[in-house]
Amino acid sequence: MIISSFLEELAKIEEQLSKQANSSRDDLEKMFLSSNGLFTLISKQITELDPNDRKTAGRSLNQLKTAIEAALAASTSTNAKDKRWIDLTMPGEQPTVGHIHPISQAMAEITGIFERVGFTRVRYPEVDWDWYAFESLNMSPSHPARDEWETFFVDQKADLEKGQVVLTPHTSNGQVREMERLGEPQIRMINIARCYRRQQDVTHTQMFHQFEGLVVDKGINIQHLKGTLDYFAEQFYGPGTKNRIRPFHFQFTEPSFEVDFSCHICSGTGEITKDGRVEKCRFCKSGWHEVGGCGMVHPNVLKAGGIDPDVYTGFAFGWGIERTYTLKKGLEIDDIRLLYSGDFKFLEQF
Ligand code: DAH
Repeated sequence: MIISSFLEELAKIEEQLSKQANSSRDDLEKMFLSSNGLFTLISKQITELDPNDRKTAGRSLNQLKTAIEAALAASTSTNAKDKRWIDLTMPGEQPTVGHIHPISQAMAEITGIFERVGFTRVRYPEVDWDWYAFESLNMSPSHPARDEWETFFVDQKADLEKGQVVLTPHTSNGQVREMERLGEPQIRMINIARCYRRQQDVTHTQMFHQFEGLVVDKGINIQHLKGTLDYFAEQFYGPGTKNRIRPFHFQFTEPSFEVDFSCHICSGTGEITKDGRVEKCRFCKSGWHEVGGCGMVHPNVLKAGGIDPDVYTGFAFGWGIERTYTLKKGLEIDDIRLLYSGDFKFLEQF
């Protein structure tokens, strides 16, 4: 074979290659590099050339090889017919965007309501000593009232002074901690935290949240407590919502009360009129929803926090965020476990 026909052949293959711009990688490999591909065949012919011409031929072959490799690199693995035309100006697929969990929304709202009237949001440990969770709150280890708290105890050596370690069953552990933090009153605390109890049903989850208010100053009395609850009721549940306090017993307050809010479905009457007939409101049954406890801080609790009960008085209140939130108008969630179910169909509604 003479060199000129060899180079002509090469030129033809190069031309073929330039026409294959849209071919897939597989097709290019087959056409040029397979055992009977154009490049493979021509490179074998080099042995038929005059030895003096082989150098020139080799250089041209190398150039062709480089061009084939470039074409392979630029090709896609799919066939041209499968290639879709992409319009980059089209709107993209909407990524899934999450939102703040309803309970976090409620926590932010509650914080805002109290901050507007001078309370400071604080957080205290959710795994705490018995001293802060019970004993400093006027509840000795053997006190039967403690059974109501269904507490989880942490398997850790007890401290000689502060006792065992517990998962806080309520946010009241923040009371004496706040007194210690501030030393001398005034105290206007709102403590929001996770709490844990060994209970689970439609109105309880083992992990839940509470918010705890504590006000200590000179001359604080029940009217301040009631005024604060009235304010909260209207702000959180809407204008016209009423609250009432009923005598109750807690070790850490004296006097103590339970707090009820008027039902927004029957406006606190306990009755609804349906098809001209008066029926008992099925949501509240009585016109009221019980949500939590409150009272005037017991002198022993003030003393435990290093505050002189002859000079200062205070009030406290505390209750569950889940329950408070699910009573909001328009929600009427009757199983609070849904809040932690991780079910998007449920959560996306809020
Ligand atoms: N800690 C109580 C509970 O979890 C609620 C409570 C009652 C908090 C009275 C208070 C209070 O601050 O004064 O059931």
